[in-house]
Amino acid sequence: MNDLILFLGKFLTQGTAIASLAPSSRWLSRTTVRHIDWARAGAVVELGAGTGPITRVIASRARPDCRVVVIERDPDFARLLHERFGSRANFDVVQGDVRDLVAILTDRRLTAVDHVISGLPVPSFPRALQHSFFRDVRRILRREGTYHQITELPWIYWRFYRRFFDQVDFVFEPRNLPPAGVYFCRGARELP
Ligand SMILES: C[S@@+](CC[C@H](N)C(=O)[O-])C[C@H]1O[C@@H](n2cnc3c(N)ncnc32)[C@H](O)[C@@H]1O
Repeated sequence: MNDLILFLGKFLTQGTAIASLAPSSRWLSRTTVRHIDWARAGAVVELGAGTGPITRVIASRARPDCRVVVIERDPDFARLLHERFGSRANFDVVQGDVRDLVAILTDRRLTAVDHVISGLPVPSFPRALQHSFFRDVRRILRREGTYHQITELPWIYWRFYRRFFDQVDFVFEPRNLPPAGVYFCRGARELP
């Protein structure tokens, strides 16, 4: 309940920068990472983690030697994430902007990850940022890597993500409030 109140307060004051009224439900959080082969995942980055509902599922699934970098811009959310997950040896919780994604990973001697899990409001980013963001995602994702994107506007952005990935699948999660879903993307495209 505390997370809900904190989240709602942020949404009411910051709107599209937060992009959601409430944290992801446990159903949406589980769906977001359900295709990941945790036995083989060596490095994962979560972007826009909020209060950490998806982070919690990642923490319960990732092997102790799987590196997990969690990036969140909002200082209150980042502090909360740090309290909740910062003591895990394989976790790095970073208060930072996704604009600095490559630098944040490079500082941690991480040049490639297996999976990018995003709660970011990417369609609301300015167009130039969308492009630089997906260029960075392509740069850090391993060849067989996958990109997982939550959305509260089911199916609407399928064509949007197809501009950036060769393959885009969508799974609807009606148990979330509001009904939501996840885009599963692979084959990050080279952008001009
Ligand atoms: C829709 S919320 C998702 C929160 C959480 N992942 C969840 O599923 O409940 C989007 C989150 O992205 C964060 N965010 C937005 N723009 C960002 C940016 N440029 N860099 C890092 N985080 C950002 C917001 O602060 C917010 O916590």
